[in-house]
Amino acid sequence: MTSHENPPQQTNQFRSFTSKFKPLFILYSSSILILLLAISFTFTKTSFYKIPPFKSHFILHPPFFQSLLGFFHRTQKPNDPNLISKPSHCVLWMAPFLSGGGYSSESWSYILALKEYVKNPRFRLAIDQHGDLESLEFWEGLPQDVKKLAFELYNTECLMNETIVVCHSEPGAWYPPLFQTLPCPPTGYKDFKLVIGRTMFETDRVNLEHVKRCNRMDFVWVPTDFHVSTFVQSGVDPSKVVKIVQPIDVNFFDPLKYEPLDLASKGKLVLGTRETDSSAKEFVFLSVFKWEYRKGWDVLLKAYLEEFSNADGVALYLLTNAYHSDKNFGSKIDKFVRDSDMAKPVEGWAPIYVIDNHIAQLVLPRVYKAADAFVLSSRGEGWGRPLVEAMAMSLPVIATNWSGPTEYLTEENSYPLQVDRMSEVTEGPFKGHLWAEPSVDKLKTLMRQVTSNVGEANAKGRKAREDMIRRFSPELVAGIVRDHIYNFLDQEA
Ligand SMILES: *[C@@H]1O[C@H](CO)[C@@H](O)[C@H](O)[C@H]1NC(C)=O
Ligand SMILES: *[C@@H]1O[C@H](CO)[C@@H](O)[C@H](O)[C@H]1NC(C)=O
Repeated sequence: MTSHENPPQQTNQFRSFTSKFKPLFILYSSSILILLLAISFTFTKTSFYKIPPFKSHFILHPPFFQSLLGFFHRTQKPNDPNLISKPSHCVLWMAPFLSGGGYSSESWSYILALKEYVKNPRFRLAIDQHGDLESLEFWEGLPQDVKKLAFELYNTECLMNETIVVCHSEPGAWYPPLFQTLPCPPTGYKDFKLVIGRTMFETDRVNLEHVKRCNRMDFVWVPTDFHVSTFVQSGVDPSKVVKIVQPIDVNFFDPLKYEPLDLASKGKLVLGTRETDSSAKEFVFLSVFKWEYRKGWDVLLKAYLEEFSNADGVALYLLTNAYHSDKNFGSKIDKFVRDSDMAKPVEGWAPIYVIDNHIAQLVLPRVYKAADAFVLSSRGEGWGRPLVEAMAMSLPVIATNWSGPTEYLTEENSYPLQVDRMSEVTEGPFKGHLWAEPSVDKLKTLMRQVTSNVGEANAKGRKAREDMIRRFSPELVAGIVRDHIYNFLDQEA
């Protein structure tokens, strides 16, 4: 969700190749995607050696990649009857599919939902990598069937004039991109049937450049009412703004399917002391975030350390990764505590653990399963994927009641954390915008409440899962996306 804050860079070596778009066919070509697919399929799935060879359009790839890609050269001819009998319309979804992070996992959630739940679709589905760097680690952590689907959708060929393009990324990546990435739409706006921008922001407004870019789109899909109102207030044409909520895979994130991960074996203790009495199970708070100021980790640490001591039988686990910083989170926490006015409790600091090694998507549910409560005191969120994942896992969630998450946080399904005031963003591309300052005192009260009233917390957790199923299940959201596309096709006809 943060990939837009600092424009990601593409290496020059792997350039995007609009030149290879033939007048008739769109051919998908972000080279690293192909490389990853090739690695995966040639080295780990030998059966894929046997797939029909694919027509070569990789003339601009470095020779090394060409030899890897030799396996995939397509022989199917455009006038092959099999191709023509399929729907002529295409939906080409362009997103950071291979990057990890917010936009990446949410774009996958749409694709998987559409693939599974739109029966006899009137369009073919295609994907391409766009908007951020690829991560080999992320790709390797994807389930095998998702990798296979990526390969299939990546190789779908479409007529440009029959294609609806969804640009699922920050507007700076849209045509013409402000940084090096395969542009979306690939050849500009007029060549395609319809162009949709799918984006969101974490502050109270959209800047002028982004407003201009949104208004070039035929539609702008945003995930929440918060975004509908901030986009329209910022100057995006109200007739273009459509709310399309995000799906959460409630079958994958299902607490009944998993055993808890042994968090203590994964986490590094960075403050306090480890529970020595192994018979007493501690109450585990979990937070998942990129290490950036926006995530309000300072608010969380202050509330946790002021409210609890080593005598309380609690532990805080931070599943985090670096965001334009080094990975030495232990020393950052240490410095934060030393620079603060907090006094060490006589019983000692309540323990804080950091998990900073990569956790594969497949293992993630087991991390949630190992927690008793989830807490995230962000200053602003687009959607808040870890929040809905935790809620689908029936965890009681404490989260700042501002921005995207107001779409789904209620008193019944969670602990909405009150905001003290709005504050100005002081650095980065959103300098001058406003976001929220969550209340440290209210956070202390809520964290104490979750540990002391476990019955209430569990009831909220159950309601959270119910609400996720009722409002954001893949089947439901696939229907919303399908209807929007069909409405457009019907108007065209
Ligand atoms: C799309 O373009 C192709 C080739 O230029 C053309 O044959 C076809 O009729 C076009 N389709 C539409 C719907 O304009
Ligand atoms: C959370 O925010 C919403 C929208 O601003 C508001 O209606 C609701 O009362 C708030 N809930 C709490 C508990 O502060």
